[in-house]
Amino acid sequence: PKVVYVEDAGQEHPIEATVGESVMATAVKNGVPGIIGECGGNASCGTCHVWVRAEFTKLVGEPNDLEEDLLEMAVTDRREGSRLSCQISVSPELDGLTVDVPPQQP
Ligand code: FES
Repeated sequence: PKVVYVEDAGQEHPIEATVGESVMATAVKNGVPGIIGECGGNASCGTCHVWVRAEFTKLVGEPNDLEEDLLEMAVTDRREGSRLSCQISVSPELDGLTVDVPPQQP
């Protein structure tokens, strides 16, 4: 499945992702700028924040309580589609998933 990361300046990074890997790990492995993943995917750093495009928010689902707390506390500019990308697992249904990468992480 393909995941597309869009930088603040508009540059797109379409990446062929592996099912079962997180959207964060996929980005880090492929050197997508702006996704850091400092805590290694434990939903505790907030440096993997992305904005999921509106057409995908339903498919991706809601954040759990832990993620919800971190989104409240740790991310800059929380919006409707805000998610921690380490908590989104790549699946075939998510093919084409497009996320916007914030200009900076906390
Ligand atoms: Fe730290 Fe996602 S990698 S919260």
